[in-house]
Amino acid sequence: MKHLRSIPELGVDGIVRILNLADHMVEVNRRPVPKVPALVGRTVVSLFFEDSTRTRISFETAAKRLSADTMTFSVSTSSVNKGESLRDTVETVDAMGVAAFIVRHKTSGVPWQLSEWTDASIINAGDGWHQHPTQALLDCHTIRTELGRSVGRECLAGLRIAIVGDVRHSRVARSDIQAFTALGAHVIVVGPRTLLPPEVHTWPVAVTSDLDSVIGDVDVLYMLRMQRERMNEALVPDLGEYSNRFALDRARASRLRADCLVMHPGPMNRGVEMMVDPSDLARSVITRQVSNGVAVRMAVLFDALGEANSEVSS
Ligand code: ASP
Ligand code: CP
Repeated sequence: MKHLRSIPELGVDGIVRILNLADHMVEVNRRPVPKVPALVGRTVVSLFFEDSTRTRISFETAAKRLSADTMTFSVSTSSVNKGESLRDTVETVDAMGVAAFIVRHKTSGVPWQLSEWTDASIINAGDGWHQHPTQALLDCHTIRTELGRSVGRECLAGLRIAIVGDVRHSRVARSDIQAFTALGAHVIVVGPRTLLPPEVHTWPVAVTSDLDSVIGDVDVLYMLRMQRERMNEALVPDLGEYSNRFALDRARASRLRADCLVMHPGPMNRGVEMMVDPSDLARSVITRQVSNGVAVRMAVLFDALGEANSEVSS
């Protein structure tokens, strides 16, 4: 598949294909020298118009482990500050010979716009509130491997996954819900009404504002960050009140099933949605999500640029 712009575009067969490839990349990452020549001579550019720690670094690590050349575009030191448009910026970088752009932007839809301006592959690293497909793929990979399930179309079947917090502004929630339900999971969305999107009832999920009624009976508790940078009005009257009802605190942690996975995409807001230290929890896999991000992003880059699609493979 040339582009990875959204989970619906990838489809369930694409998700399964990437999860299979990710298992192979996990094996590559365990080697004494975790590097393969799959993408020698291809250039991968990170084009991040929004801040990132883990997505950007793990994509760059993934590209290097596949032997691609990498370029990092830093908006804060670029000619964007002199008024250069998105289109001119992309066409300028593209003129240097680019195989793939990894793009993050505050505006939903930018990855689709970019693919009209360049022949390179476009990988969406987060567009507005819309999609964060590689986060969803690494989350599926994490849940599947932590629970010992083999890859397949129904590999999350029977699991109850609660996604808690600011669903309204979360591209992670949207992509995760699409991917988890495509693989057979039952998703429960939990948050205050003001932080749930009005269209939530059209999604294939259960909805509640009562975290305590579900917390003792889920296989995965997925906490979200309050995305204050995306709010232009006060959607929660008081952060303390929000934490009382929706944070993972000691009392709630004690009610989790012993085998319940606790997840968070990061960055975490300690003291807002996380009132416990994840390392004190029996089954927090938050750090595993980060490590798995490298293997999953290697799989995504290989799927887009590797052998079958490579012009240089012959
Ligand atoms: N890092 C994730 C994102 O960029 C989640 C978050 O920022 O809360 O969507
Ligand atoms: N989860 C995630 O996308 O993290 P960053 O914003 O740090 O990339």
